[in-house]
Amino acid sequence: MNKFQRKTLFDHRIAIVVLALVFTTTSAQSKEDFECPTDAGNGNFADPVTCRRFYQCVDGYPYLNRCPSGLYFDDIQKFCTFKDEARCGPIATTVSPATEAPLDLALKCDLSECELPYCYCSKDGTFIPKDLAAEDIPQMILLTFDGAVNHNNYDHYMRVLDGRYANPNGCPIRGTFFISHEYSNYQQIQNLSHAGNEIAVETISLQQGLQDKGYEEWVGEMIGMREILRYFSNVSNSEVNGMRAPFLKPGRNTQYKVVEDFGFIYDSSIVVPSNKIPVWPYTLDYKIPHECKSGTCPSRQFPGVWEVPLNTHYVESFEGGVCPYLDQCVLHNHDADEVLEWLQEDFSRYYEQNKAPYMMAFHTNWFQIKELEQGLHKFIEWASQLPDVWFVTTTQALQWMTDPKRNKELAAFEAWDCRKPQTNTQRPCNLGNKCALSFKLGNITDTRYMETCQDCPNKYPWLGDSEGSGIPGRDNYIYQSKEPAPNEESESETTK
Ligand SMILES: *[C@@H]1O[C@H](CO)[C@@H](O)[C@H](O)[C@H]1NC(C)=O
Ligand SMILES: *[C@@H]1O[C@H](CO)[C@@H](O)[C@H](O)[C@H]1NC(C)=O
Ligand SMILES: *[C@@H]1O[C@H](CO)[C@@H](O)[C@H](O)[C@H]1NC(C)=O
Repeated sequence: MNKFQRKTLFDHRIAIVVLALVFTTTSAQSKEDFECPTDAGNGNFADPVTCRRFYQCVDGYPYLNRCPSGLYFDDIQKFCTFKDEARCGPIATTVSPATEAPLDLALKCDLSECELPYCYCSKDGTFIPKDLAAEDIPQMILLTFDGAVNHNNYDHYMRVLDGRYANPNGCPIRGTFFISHEYSNYQQIQNLSHAGNEIAVETISLQQGLQDKGYEEWVGEMIGMREILRYFSNVSNSEVNGMRAPFLKPGRNTQYKVVEDFGFIYDSSIVVPSNKIPVWPYTLDYKIPHECKSGTCPSRQFPGVWEVPLNTHYVESFEGGVCPYLDQCVLHNHDADEVLEWLQEDFSRYYEQNKAPYMMAFHTNWFQIKELEQGLHKFIEWASQLPDVWFVTTTQALQWMTDPKRNKELAAFEAWDCRKPQTNTQRPCNLGNKCALSFKLGNITDTRYMETCQDCPNKYPWLGDSEGSGIPGRDNYIYQSKEPAPNEESESETTK
């Protein structure tokens, strides 16, 4: 069988082949029999035999891994999660048709044309803005948290962000939340926003396959989520600057058109494969300076739109694998000190080279495993002692990039100074409303609980009805741009 045949047969036959072998071999041998799909690149793949195990493919070699006890591998989200929430694999993936031309619609970076603050690019994406020397600039660390915020994770997030760790200017460290709607607690989100954390959007529904959907769907998901945050967490539209596509599957040109049309400043959905030197954020004025593994990156230029890419995490031995989200690397069999060492090695690739922002992207499940959470605290404690390390929000990182400052100028850098008002979000109420709301999905009606400092809506807010009015399809978002400064009240929504 030649390589091509093996590849095309993979989806249909490999499950049966591996299943048959497992009965006659030990698991150590079956590991060698699992073949990493050649067309899918590095990543985690379901073990066809059991939902408790999965393979991590690194440069074509499969590493067998086990989920922590009680957790199962979810083949859609590609990490271990609670047994009753996990979707066991292998789940056949349909390769999306190439509906748009590949990345050659955009031109190569032209340094003579591309100037800060509006444009930033470099030959291979790894250069420091304004040609500053690495020893003169800060090492930024971006903590990002994806998905719903609620009682399961809020206290864990607060333990990182409650002020116990500070930046060199004495301000508490801050993070960025890419919020999805279902199960979110809007009083808690309001508190995070009021404290100076950045609120950005993922989507309302976290639907699968959004990368292949059209403009209307992306508008409904992204702008609807931004509206929900405005109604129920008092976060004004002008403070929601960023978005992240579910499952890091960007929506080709369609998603970026929405980013552009509705005044977002950046997207953070594109993964950089395991580069030896990490890539800095760039604007989409030119071709993306690295391989696009998801296959759904934008193919044309979007001048002035920033991409804050996710450089993959890994250590030299590839122990734990290669992952854009830290919880997708397999570190749960490590103790807290080993997690610390792993993070330190990964971080040193940035700190000792070009000091590209070190993005630590998490889902809630990192915080469900004590060793991982403790390892993270040890890492933050260690890193926050370094004189040139700053934990900033994604927008604060871009504020630095558009106006790069040397270390000695940072004490007076307003964008990072918490003594300046950093948000319009009001202080949240002490006791929120706990709303029990009916929620209709298809022909099933369910109840969802939602906490907010606002009055309870009639229905659970959802696509097309972000206010929860109970009138389906009520929202009608119209084109808007964020420059010049928007008029909050009239900017984004009219009722039909
Ligand atoms: C908001 O955060 C502060 C500390 O930052 C805490 O004291 C307060 O209880 C929080 N309020 C809510 C509603 O979570
Ligand atoms: C936030 O709350 C204040 C006080 O209730 C209100 O005046 C303001 O319009 C609200 N902002 C948003 C974006 O809803
Ligand atoms: C609800 O929808 C499912 C699938 O769409 C269908 O099989 C079922 O019969 C429907 N139930 C009712 C009561 O309509």
